[in-house]
Amino acid sequence: MSDNDDRFLIVAIDGGAASGKSSTSRALSERFNFMHVDTGSFYRAVTFKLLEAGVSPDDETAVAEALAHLHPSTRIEGRSARMEIDGWVPGEEIRSAPVNENVSRFAALPVVRRFLLDYQRGQAEVARANGFRGLVMEGRDIGSVIFPDADLRIFLDASPEARARRRAAEGQADQIHERDRLDRQRKTAPLHCPPGAIRVDTTEMTLEQVVDHIANLVEARLR
Ligand code: DC
Repeated sequence: MSDNDDRFLIVAIDGGAASGKSSTSRALSERFNFMHVDTGSFYRAVTFKLLEAGVSPDDETAVAEALAHLHPSTRIEGRSARMEIDGWVPGEEIRSAPVNENVSRFAALPVVRRFLLDYQRGQAEVARANGFRGLVMEGRDIGSVIFPDADLRIFLDASPEARARRRAAEGQADQIHERDRLDRQRKTAPLHCPPGAIRVDTTEMTLEQVVDHIANLVEARLR
């Protein structure tokens, strides 16, 4: 057994909507026994709760007040970390049209990003405590803000046509173009490929090819 067998690895996977982050991250978590964390689902769960509370993304004070009543915790399902909020386990409702339409607007608010910052960083400890060999976290700002010192930082890209095709194949109606525009343009933690991250254009690649490519990069860091 080499020293590196005990090494805990953090892999950050960022990219726009429908860039293949989730499928890729899940496959990597299976291959390496990493805990998988989909941070988009956190922003979606919080958006659902804020909409339920009748709060508008235009009213940051009201958003801050509503957030103060939310207490997120984590439970592990298989290899994935799931956010629970005060006993509520988010389900398919966080993929609904009202959430799709509003999530990027809430995610642009510094108060929302601050609310989730420590929670997201804390997932590394959750993964360690639960015996995982590492963490694969997907989102928009994981390699730039949440874990800028991650062992591996990947930015997934694909043509708008390829991404629209993938979402349609999942049977989901989603304004990916509009969400990406808002996510790229926001002032706090915008979607971009940070310096030092590895950009992978998946337009002409199968999921298996993408996973193999990134798995090779992971292996190199385990050596
Ligand atoms: O990954 P997703 O499409 O489910 O993410 C939903 C929204 O959440 C996305 O449009 C922007 C926001 N998000 C974010 O701002 N930062 C992250 N790390 C993850 C998601």
